[in-house]
Amino acid sequence: MPLDIIVGTQWGDEGKGRIVDLLASNADIVARYSGGDNAGHTVTVGDRTFKLHLIPSGLVYPHTLGVIGNGVVINPKTLCTEMEKLRQQGLIINPDRLAISHSAHLITPAHIALDQAQESARGSSKIGTTLRGIGPAYTDKIARSGLRVGEMLDSKTFTEAALRHTHHINHTITNLFSAKGVDVIYTAAELCDYADILRPYIKDVSLLLNQALADGKKILAEGAQGTLLDIDHGTYPYVTSSNPTAAGALVGLGLGVGCTERVFGVTKAFQTRVGEGPFPTEAFGNIAFRLRGTGANPWDEYGTTTGRPRRVGWLDMVLLRYAARINGLTDLAVTKLDILSGFKTIMICNAYRSGGNSYQELPYGPVNLEDFNPVYEELPGWEEDIRHARHWEELPQAARNYILRMEELVSIPVRLISVGPEREQVVELG
Ligand code: GDP
Ligand code: IMO
Ligand code: MG
Repeated sequence: MPLDIIVGTQWGDEGKGRIVDLLASNADIVARYSGGDNAGHTVTVGDRTFKLHLIPSGLVYPHTLGVIGNGVVINPKTLCTEMEKLRQQGLIINPDRLAISHSAHLITPAHIALDQAQESARGSSKIGTTLRGIGPAYTDKIARSGLRVGEMLDSKTFTEAALRHTHHINHTITNLFSAKGVDVIYTAAELCDYADILRPYIKDVSLLLNQALADGKKILAEGAQGTLLDIDHGTYPYVTSSNPTAAGALVGLGLGVGCTERVFGVTKAFQTRVGEGPFPTEAFGNIAFRLRGTGANPWDEYGTTTGRPRRVGWLDMVLLRYAARINGLTDLAVTKLDILSGFKTIMICNAYRSGGNSYQELPYGPVNLEDFNPVYEELPGWEEDIRHARHWEELPQAARNYILRMEELVSIPVRLISVGPEREQVVELG
């Protein structure tokens, strides 16, 4: 059963790309199964940094095959731009190395314009989307009016479908939101140009993956976003429009339920969020400044896709336990432990208090989180720079105690501790 699934356990940006890069060294196929170019995954290898939005992070290795599954929504323009950029960075991207599902849905310029119009109309209750057209593309998918990648195979019918689609969305933008639509002819022509480029990559991904499993190949499913952004299980309505959780990998790739071996949860050693929505352990002032960084370092907490400063706070074990349950986690990878160096004390939230009651689990999942106040444990911090640690024994005792306490509170073994963005900056545990 050689499918491993990597999921984010928080609100995205946990360092999934960095962990996928580690685990992909012995995978044959790396597959994205949900989201779109709202994702920004960073892989650092020596002095090269790759920023991936749609292309699976595992393609940084020369031996892997990359797959974009049916659960992903694809903006053909950003995909083609990303392919070109990665080629310039020395990666080989061609139809022998990348397969795109014929059932994945397309994000078009009209979807992006609609995303912008919807966010403006929401005013102070905006979601803070990445404005990449994600919500409108998934809305079209569910409404059974979307454009699918497979339609690109026939240029005549695709042109007609693209024209129809753009007219239709323009109608909503202008009539419902009194905003400006997109140029119909130009948009359809542009989509057709991208279809010409992408046509050789279009495959039956489910068939390809199931044959690979039958041949004993190892597949890594690369999650985007995070559990708390899941449309069903996240902090609704401040979520994305897909299922980034582990079960989404099976639906989003066309795989059966029996093939999963491990579900790897990636968590930062603290908590971050970009965009609006509740965040019980959010920190402000000096602590936030220390956790976020100034923006001078590439790993400081500013969004990979949008450049927005991320909100930051202490690790929330109530939400991590929730993520462990929703995803059926078998293993944990903890990232950015190095950022906690220098704190005298480190806070960890293990329960909430509301209306005089204490909660270890949320009564209705992560809804109405504003009504819950975090209850913290205080752990001693450490002074040492830990970026050079490669073995458990090389971590300061206080850092080890922090990890051990985390393990104890979530009851999932920590297998990887990332102490820096680079490939080798990791402590691997048995
Ligand atoms: P993803 O969306 O989950 O793949 O995460 P992002 O790439 O958006 O954000 C994670 C950021 O943290 C990137 O800049 C990574 O290079 C960086 N990073 C990952 N792991 C570590 C770590 O252990 N330490 C430090 N300092 N940076 C890390
Ligand atoms: P990766 O894969 C962090 C957030 C947005 C917004 C909400 C809805 O890099 O972890 P959307 O554009 O999806 O409709 O926005 O979801 N969001 C992310 N936050 N990392 C991501 O991806 C995200 N993808 C979406 O900020 O709050
Ligand atoms: Mg990211």
